[in-house]
Amino acid sequence: MRVLANSSSDARQIRGPAAFDALIIGAGFSGLYQLFCLRDRLGLSVQVLEAGEGVGGTWYWNRYPGARCDSESHTYCYTFSKELLQEWEWTERYPEQPEILRYLNHIADRFDLRRSIRFGTRVKAARYDTAANLWHVTTEQGERLTAKFLITAVGCLSTANVPNIPGLDSFGGRWVHTGQWPHEGVDFTGKRVGMIGTGSTGIQAAPVIAQTAAHLTVFQRTANYSVPARNAPLTPEFKRYVKENFSEIQHLMDSNPNGHAWLIQDRSALDVSPEERVALYEAAWRKGGLQFRATFRDLVVSKPANDTAAEFIRSKIREIVKDTATAAILSDFDHPYAAKRPPIDTDYYETFNRPNVSLVNLRANPIVAITSAGVRTRDAEYRLDMIVFATGFDALTGPLLRIDIRGRDGLALADVWHGGPRNYLGLQVAGFPNLFTITGPGSPSVLCNMPVAIEQHVEWITNCIAHMRAEGLARIEAQPEAMDGWVEQVNAAANATLLPLAKSSWYLGANIPGKPRVFMPYAGGMARYRMICAEVAAGGYRGFALSR
Ligand SMILES: Cc1cc2nc3c(=O)[nH]c(=O)nc-3n(C[C@H](O)[C@H](O)[C@H](O)COP(=O)(O)OP(=O)(O)OC[C@H]3O[C@@H](n4cnc5c(N)ncnc54)[C@H](O)[C@@H]3O)c2cc1C
Ligand SMILES: NC(=O)c1ccc[n+]([C@@H]2O[C@H](COP(=O)([O-])OP(=O)(O)OC[C@H]3O[C@@H](n4cnc5c(N)ncnc54)[C@H](OP(=O)(O)O)[C@@H]3O)[C@@H](O)[C@H]2O)c1
Repeated sequence: MRVLANSSSDARQIRGPAAFDALIIGAGFSGLYQLFCLRDRLGLSVQVLEAGEGVGGTWYWNRYPGARCDSESHTYCYTFSKELLQEWEWTERYPEQPEILRYLNHIADRFDLRRSIRFGTRVKAARYDTAANLWHVTTEQGERLTAKFLITAVGCLSTANVPNIPGLDSFGGRWVHTGQWPHEGVDFTGKRVGMIGTGSTGIQAAPVIAQTAAHLTVFQRTANYSVPARNAPLTPEFKRYVKENFSEIQHLMDSNPNGHAWLIQDRSALDVSPEERVALYEAAWRKGGLQFRATFRDLVVSKPANDTAAEFIRSKIREIVKDTATAAILSDFDHPYAAKRPPIDTDYYETFNRPNVSLVNLRANPIVAITSAGVRTRDAEYRLDMIVFATGFDALTGPLLRIDIRGRDGLALADVWHGGPRNYLGLQVAGFPNLFTITGPGSPSVLCNMPVAIEQHVEWITNCIAHMRAEGLARIEAQPEAMDGWVEQVNAAANATLLPLAKSSWYLGANIPGKPRVFMPYAGGMARYRMICAEVAAGGYRGFALSR
């Protein structure tokens, strides 16, 4: 990447200790790497503000039982440092939350990042001052800081969604949300536990909770497809293979639409015989993992092709789950396979064969209230000691709109995004100069193995700021026409896939009452997106206005 060898800390000299060249909000994968790039590669004065008391973001907050990544460990990591890649050893195909958190803490220590991070500091508001070309940032504690560049690294999935169910305050037991899990852990031993939600989180948590709970009641609103993860310890041979061949692995990750290191098979599900198709699905099922999606190239673009995957998974559920009524509820899909983020699991369907686990179909029997004793549905009351909300997040726009962000002339981001997010390349919003949004809506983000998307955004932003400083430019701002054009491209990319067909998907904002229904991430593929961003930069930052 192009970098400047040195830079002055001009903003700090003028404004005193609360003034920085750049402020970064969030200390997860994104914020840590952005800090390293701006502080240690460009020499800027940088402060990170983080609401949590430690680094890690997702892996700091999501400590629920069974939490682990679905990306394979050798690809769920940074690739910017060859030394780091050689030093760090993952233990499992999908490491558990504590191991990923250890990794991110190691990054913070190895690159001496902590001294530039202020923990326990939630940003409340950010206001752009046109005359001074500065961002004024206010924290919940009332501190004020300024910076020329403001970079949000707030995550796509960091705002927990606790549904507004009447009576929650009256519940006599304890309730927790998976995304705000108590650090001391939760003991389910002997307890009657209700878990609401069967997304990736619920599907990971249920089998583990069921091991100690007296009884687990799973409340399912939308049936979800899950494929076995087939987690296992990594063998010494595999670890050696990864270290010796990382550049090829990285090439595959970078050239793939989804940032993972597996090949999407170049064949249609409809071009093979039914027997061959089932044999290929069986092999993928045995292998496990998100790469089940890659068995055929057309699973997320052709409904007839997708139907074959859906039917295969349905047949597996019927095979695994002994009670036919439970199997029918679990496989009553209302959307194409992978049109919502497909979970992977360890013994999820098997868990429903345990005598201490039951399933409630909320489509047939919706929750009407939470009472002092438990959950009341239209037809029954479930007596519970604990409720686990595995109900997801106000995704993508949620963490940004929780901050009162105001650009030129007091323009509120909440107003610009009233009808859904609008921006250019997922990186900048017109009217908000020098504000960059890492993995913002309109970028591949959650449709990609995220560290790949994060590194690409951080490096693009770093190169852009380096370019500005080299050219003596003070301001960069997305142009309204470029923003309009990009919104059209984001919509067109989504509409070329089956993804918008999942009406209850958080990709569409459908999980949050009142949120505009707009497909938010860019579905045109990471490799294509990377090329577009590179061309924009090479073309003199086409679509952005740069000024002195
Ligand atoms: C349980 C779970 C498992 C996941 N597994 C995978 C996976 O296998 N593969 C994959 O690719 N992705 C996965 N993801 C997505 C995951 O979020 C990303 O991979 C990645 O961790 C995002 O890093 P980030 O730094 O961008 O955001 P985050 O890790 O979410 O960090 C954002 C940080 O910003 C802070 N913050 C937010 N708002 C403010 C504010 N106003 N003021 C101060 N601080 C603020 C938050 O406290 C948080 O620490 C998973 C997500 C979840 C929830
Ligand atoms: N290992 C991993 O990779 C991993 C693990 C966990 C999470 N994640 C990431 O985080 C994302 C979010 O996952 P998540 O499982 O936390 O959230 P999610 O996918 O949004 O799932 C939330 C679940 O809660 C249900 N729900 C929400 N509100 C409800 C209500 N009021 N009443 C009843 N049910 C309700 C949803 O039902 P509906 O479907 O009907 O809305 C859904 O089943 C994933 O898609 C993934 O990107 C990744």
